[in-house]
Amino acid sequence: MAIFEYSVINFLFITLIIIFLSVVLRSRNQKNTSVPTNWPVLGMLPRILQNSHRIHDFVTEILSELGGTFEFKGPWFCNMDMLVTCDPTNIHHIFSRNFSNYPKGPEFRKIFEILGDGIFNADFELWELHRRTTLSFMAHVKFYSLLETAAWHKVETGLLPVLDHFSEQGVDVDLQDIFQRFTFDSICKLVLDYDSRSLSIDLPYIPSEKAFNDVIEALLHRHVLPESIWKLQNWLRIGKERKLIEAWKAFDEFIYPIIDLSEGEGKDGFNLLKSFRKAYEVNNVSCLGDSRDFLRDTALSLMFAGRDTTSTCLTWLFWLLAANPSVEMTIRDEIETELHLKKDKKWRFFNVEESHKLIYLHGALCESLRLFPPVALEHKAPIRPDILPSGNYLHQNSRVIVSFYSTGRMETVWGNNCLEFKPERWISPRGGIKHEPSYKFPAFNAGPRTCLGKEMAFIQMKMVAATIMYHYNIELVEGHAVSPRDSIILQAKHGFRVRLSKRTV
Ligand code: HEM
Repeated sequence: MAIFEYSVINFLFITLIIIFLSVVLRSRNQKNTSVPTNWPVLGMLPRILQNSHRIHDFVTEILSELGGTFEFKGPWFCNMDMLVTCDPTNIHHIFSRNFSNYPKGPEFRKIFEILGDGIFNADFELWELHRRTTLSFMAHVKFYSLLETAAWHKVETGLLPVLDHFSEQGVDVDLQDIFQRFTFDSICKLVLDYDSRSLSIDLPYIPSEKAFNDVIEALLHRHVLPESIWKLQNWLRIGKERKLIEAWKAFDEFIYPIIDLSEGEGKDGFNLLKSFRKAYEVNNVSCLGDSRDFLRDTALSLMFAGRDTTSTCLTWLFWLLAANPSVEMTIRDEIETELHLKKDKKWRFFNVEESHKLIYLHGALCESLRLFPPVALEHKAPIRPDILPSGNYLHQNSRVIVSFYSTGRMETVWGNNCLEFKPERWISPRGGIKHEPSYKFPAFNAGPRTCLGKEMAFIQMKMVAATIMYHYNIELVEGHAVSPRDSIILQAKHGFRVRLSKRTV
């Protein structure tokens, strides 16, 4: 009886709290502010959870109201307090001027443990080894010709046959899935020297290719939930953590056999795995374990870097173009004029040099990256206390979340037309590409950890975008809602379903 009474009292108490919170939250919403109330015990979490389905936009609203920086208070004892900022002066300070005070740190590594000792998790000596080795591979004379040939080969043998198939069948297709397959195959070829052929007419199910989608969602949850909760979920193998465990297995089953096969092939020749195998042996980095694991972590991190970012940018580009047909027409004109297609109308290979001439397309890609930066946020922790240019004080090891998504949508940074898609924004008075400082346009990160694949990504994206725009008309499938997914990579939540028809060029 006592237990029954106790349960009833508990139930009534919890119900009263829920009713109280929902009434107060509703009345507060009506006050027209996005800034969450800091409740006793629960901190600001209730309002964040209430908006978790639109977290990037919600955070942008708060930051815009508060001038670019916001101190989030989590529930008691959850160690979730953090500073959220999108202020370019803070970005410049954290990523460049005071770089040495902001390593990725142990918190980042815990969240991204699936990437092991790869470049994204690495700091100091290990990071330098990764950066040096990747850079010297990319600076090799053969690199860009390998890249051009590989990208073109995928366009000819993968992209065009698949899109032709769907346009002839008259059925709709998820263009985001097509882009992900394209970039997965391309990055596997570059990093593992292996063609996974995921971009084929039958759209084969390759567990490691799809596993990336589960990983990026689970990783955002690890940013939002208290560590104890996601650790418990991981231990119980439930929810997003279960998917993360399965993804981990799929990656290992895909990558380890390729590493083992490549081992006997000698250390010469132009190949990324070989470069890293050599670097591992020569440098003898003290904190590293087994070379096989090191190569797995290296490869997976680069695959992670190359697959989702590029495919996400392409997805949003085509979504933005669908709403801006005049921009699409200007890009088509540019492609035909700059690649001299107007006379013979025949589609042909174009090299890196020629891709630099597609200035307006470049501007459109930058706009897509400004409004929908594939890496929507960054996570930092100062090793020494610091004061940011915005005046906010940071304790040692406190958490800082930098929202790149919000930076691109601030009126104070990009003017009052900041939400409009305007490739012209990127064209200089002399007709070239206008340079914007990375702290204002941080899609590729800023400072010493700036993205190593930027140039490569633009080449690939231009090849894919130009091919599609030259050959097809794209129509959005009616009723298919497109919105950003709540994950660390800003994919479209339910994909991007379109219908293709061949253009008569
Ligand atoms: C549109 C495409 C891309 C975007 C928006 C992008 C964005 C970024 C961002 C924001 C970072 C910093 C991540 C962090 O420190 O946590 C980064 C780092 C990096 N990216 Fe990219 N990336 C793109 C394509 C690529 C490609 C195709 C590669 C090729 C493998 C690549 C390789 C890298 C590497 C190696 C790093 C680590 C740099 C370091 O920590 O020193 N990225 N990228």
